[in-house]
Amino acid sequence: MPLVRGQARTRRFFDWLAPNYDIVNRVIFRPEWRAMVREAFLPGRVLDVGVGTGYTTADVPGAVGIDISREMVSRAKSYRGDLVLADAMAPPFRTASFSTIVCAGSFYYLPDPVKALLEFHRLLTPGGRIVLLGPEAWFLRPVVRILVRRDYEVLARRAGLDLERCESLRGVASLVVMRKGTSSGG
Ligand SMILES: C[S@@+](CC[C@H](N)C(=O)[O-])C[C@H]1O[C@@H](n2cnc3c(N)ncnc32)[C@H](O)[C@@H]1O
Repeated sequence: MPLVRGQARTRRFFDWLAPNYDIVNRVIFRPEWRAMVREAFLPGRVLDVGVGTGYTTADVPGAVGIDISREMVSRAKSYRGDLVLADAMAPPFRTASFSTIVCAGSFYYLPDPVKALLEFHRLLTPGGRIVLLGPEAWFLRPVVRILVRRDYEVLARRAGLDLERCESLRGVASLVVMRKGTSSGG
């Protein structure tokens, strides 16, 4: 069972980590992964879920970043888009507002992944993308939830999304892209 679980605990954990987050992140989050995540963005508005201090989308014009940790968001000083203190499980946005939703290091903290994906499905325009960067290293299993291809296949199916890509990044992390269908039912 992951050590960091539950919304309140997650928020407290990141509020505590926030002053040193960028130092830790510089070691963990490789620039080439960030580039791959960004290359998967579609033209249009981007929602960064669990934006943290803004590392992934700070310079993306018109991006919207949401996070439950006030301490993390308060450090996203150079963020060019809008920052919203909000829970990804109940995102306060209109239906079909975004072409891309990115979770860089945040999806595995969400308490109900299917419910989260159904919300993301609602927020996406037809044909829109969800881009997930998550941990894959086996030794992190006691600390955080590790999702593998089979998990993503099941999650995508249950949320009515197509799994476009699921790529292992040297067994350390994974890059996953899901897509909403273009028809009204998809
Ligand atoms: C590992 S950090 C990643 C931050 C940033 N995306 C990056 O790549 O540097 C995970 C972030 O997800 C946020 N988070 C966790 N659960 C959340 C939720 N339910 N709603 C919104 N943000 C959440 C945390 O507060 C934290 O800032």
